[in-house]
Amino acid sequence: MLLHSAVTNAQEFTGYPSYSFPPYSIDPSVRGVPRQRRSRMHEAALRAAGSGILAAVEGECADWQQLRDQLVSGLELAGHVSTDRVAAALRAVRRDVFVPGIEPERVYRDEAFPIKYDEDGFPVSSSSQPAIMARMLEQLDVQPGHRVLEIGTGTGYNAALLGQLVGETGAVVSVDIDADLVTDARERLAACGVSQVTAVCGDGGLGWSENGPYDRIIATVGAWDITPAWVAQLAPHGRLVLPLDLRGPQRSIAFQPIDNHLESVSVVDCVFMRLRGAFTGPESIHRLGPERGVLLGLAEQRPIDADGLYAALADPGGDVPSGVRVTLSEVMDGLSLWLALREPAIAGLSAFDATANHGLVPALIEYPGRGTATVALVGTGALAALVRLGEEQPFELGARPLGQEGHRLAQRLIRHIHDWDTQGRPGTAGLQVSAYPRGSDHAAIADANIIIEKRYTRLALTWAR
Ligand SMILES: C[S@@+](CC[C@H](N)C(=O)[O-])C[C@H]1O[C@@H](n2cnc3c(N)ncnc32)[C@H](O)[C@@H]1O
Repeated sequence: MLLHSAVTNAQEFTGYPSYSFPPYSIDPSVRGVPRQRRSRMHEAALRAAGSGILAAVEGECADWQQLRDQLVSGLELAGHVSTDRVAAALRAVRRDVFVPGIEPERVYRDEAFPIKYDEDGFPVSSSSQPAIMARMLEQLDVQPGHRVLEIGTGTGYNAALLGQLVGETGAVVSVDIDADLVTDARERLAACGVSQVTAVCGDGGLGWSENGPYDRIIATVGAWDITPAWVAQLAPHGRLVLPLDLRGPQRSIAFQPIDNHLESVSVVDCVFMRLRGAFTGPESIHRLGPERGVLLGLAEQRPIDADGLYAALADPGGDVPSGVRVTLSEVMDGLSLWLALREPAIAGLSAFDATANHGLVPALIEYPGRGTATVALVGTGALAALVRLGEEQPFELGARPLGQEGHRLAQRLIRHIHDWDTQGRPGTAGLQVSAYPRGSDHAAIADANIIIEKRYTRLALTWAR
């Protein structure tokens, strides 16, 4: 389920190595560290920062400004930052104040930092990776004086950046579902003198109607659907940016209202932790086998035979070659989305910690010494997983049968690889997403390449030719 940072940095990844998988990822930094101890470490860091924020703010030194400048220059070079305004905001706001307990050199690297975990060790809040934060701020196109709603306050860092972008005449409301996060974020925002931002606690799926309508709405947490409140609270000329689930994989989509629907104006790869609360999606994550490290993430709830699948992992057949050479970037940006849109039983499969060394999960993506991950088609007691054949770049893609019925699934994966290749390897580039209210019947919907039915929304996906 985890992919690597060499592919693209434009990801959030909640602390995973910069690339993550449909539909879920787990933070490899939690590996091997007992959850209780991790949580205490994080809580201690947060408490320390809470009491020492002012000292931290006063303690800014020239080196930290230099580190910030270096980060921004790197983001500009990589194409994540394209406007002076976003660059200036990133240069002005101190991330170290919002992500306490991390050494300066790391804080200003292009890394995500988890700050809170659930009882299973999955991250539920983080400071997102600067690359995807920058990309989304570019997508959002905030102007001075704007009223902005952010869903997912987290550390408060992105809210502070938004505050910088709206300037003194604008206003930002940032909502988080966790009261402790809101309390900490408020304290840090105040310590930094950010007065345009109001952090509030609530289910962001409901928006925050008191201060609407908003010129801009941004979710910094993965959404399964576009909630009615976000549409209702968006000004007619407004823009909504959110990491939207496309049957497992996410894309950060900037939407603008047009006539009776929302139309995408920009689509960017991303992976975010998922929205909690009343508007949470049906995604599911399963641990396979007795060890904690083998994970299977599905886009929807479906019964699986976890023991049978675990046994299948230990029963690999011969790899089936596809004859198609690819880069990992093409697989993650294009093929994994292609598969997810056509196969409900496509999954992210990963192994971490000790289990990573068992070779159970084919290393389509490898994190040396930490884990492996791939994409798998899941059957009953069998799977087929994408594999790299050979060491060259680009590499030949293959399918590994796992378990008795795995061969049939592998053949199916191979057919998809050929179809995707024949169709010109569609991916994020050229993807247009239209969001209509559920039940809409519109000529443009009928012409779409793919239709995704959500609870409130009908998404029509089209690739420009
Ligand atoms: C990736 S973090 C956001 C990062 C944040 N923008 C920052 O700069 O630190 C996602 C956040 O979304 C919050 N969240 C999850 N579900 C939510 C909901 N229904 N309403 C509001 N916030 C939610 C989580 O508590 C978490 O803090």
